[in-house]
Amino acid sequence: MASNPRIFSKRPFIAAWLSLASLSACGSPELPAQTGTTKSGDGDKAVSPVETEENRRALHQYLQGRYLYQQHCTECHGETGRGNGPWAAELEIKPRNFRTGLFKLRTTPYGMLPVEEDLIRTIKGGISGTSMPVFGHLPDADIRMIIKYLQSLSRSWKDPSLAAAPLPIPEVPGWFSSKEQSRQQVEKGRARFAELCAACHGESGKGDGPAAGQLIDAWGNSAFPADLSAAHHKSGDSPRDLYRSIATGLNGTPMVGFAGQLSETEIWELISFIRQLGER
Ligand code: HEC
Ligand code: HEC
Repeated sequence: MASNPRIFSKRPFIAAWLSLASLSACGSPELPAQTGTTKSGDGDKAVSPVETEENRRALHQYLQGRYLYQQHCTECHGETGRGNGPWAAELEIKPRNFRTGLFKLRTTPYGMLPVEEDLIRTIKGGISGTSMPVFGHLPDADIRMIIKYLQSLSRSWKDPSLAAAPLPIPEVPGWFSSKEQSRQQVEKGRARFAELCAACHGESGKGDGPAAGQLIDAWGNSAFPADLSAAHHKSGDSPRDLYRSIATGLNGTPMVGFAGQLSETEIWELISFIRQLGER
């Protein structure tokens, strides 16, 4: 008696679907549902990919995520996520290539993948000073589906050694907002900045240090040290946003994370110095 392929092919189908999703990291991301037949040994009957509730939901999310991505993201990030959409050529700061699995804005240590909340923050808030738009109008559920799709574009997401928990971002210290109380900290911050940061960012933080102009990022583009005296920053403008960038760094750029090297107080001193740069 031939076994019922509907029962026996469920698991292989899920496995095939997952491996297709990972294979798509090297070619163009193909629609898994189009391979609606599985070979289950006896008889190659077409097996509907929507057999289990779980399977149906995963497939729906993938397709919906891909659809939303195509609607909102391909002009810049490209059909297959390589950062080469039709608008990319004209942009000085290039759209991210999602195939490399490198993300600048994260709460996780330098070199690690972002957590979902990091990507949500970036997509909802945009990236100041670049063409990356604000997608605050998209429902959270849609953003999560787009993220699922982004995660099918690079193998990095399958590598457990690249996953990490967020670093804790401490509360702003009491002295921070008082000009009188923070005078000493600003001076300590200035000295440390000259020592550790000025080579790239320049003594006055304008992004004009001696190394500026010679830096290249992981995607082969020029990496411009941020102008820290500017009113807005890519990672957000609050003191805790700056803390996050300094502690975790920006992956794929020469801006490494300083969490291991500097204490919490030392990082706040740097931020108190950076905050008064724009005031002159
Ligand atoms: C008009 C062009 C444009 C569009 C449209 C666009 N992006 Fe971007 N995006 C950019 C640019 C430019 C960057 C790189 C900024 C940088 O490196 O500082 C970027 C970077 C990103 C990053 C990487 C952030 C990091 O931490 O490195 C993510 C994630 C992202 N975009 C998601 C999206 C999603 C999702 C959509 C669609 C919903 C989208 N983008 C649409 C231009 C665009
Ligand atoms: C080797 C060069 C280099 C050194 C040293 C360096 N940075 Fe950076 N930094 C960069 C570059 C390049 C960027 C911009 C990366 C990007 O946006 O692609 C950056 C970005 C930043 C940002 C993010 C700004 C934003 O728009 O969100 C902050 C904050 C920052 N640096 C602070 C510091 C501090 C504080 C130090 C010293 C402790 C430091 N950097 C040392 C190269 C450097």
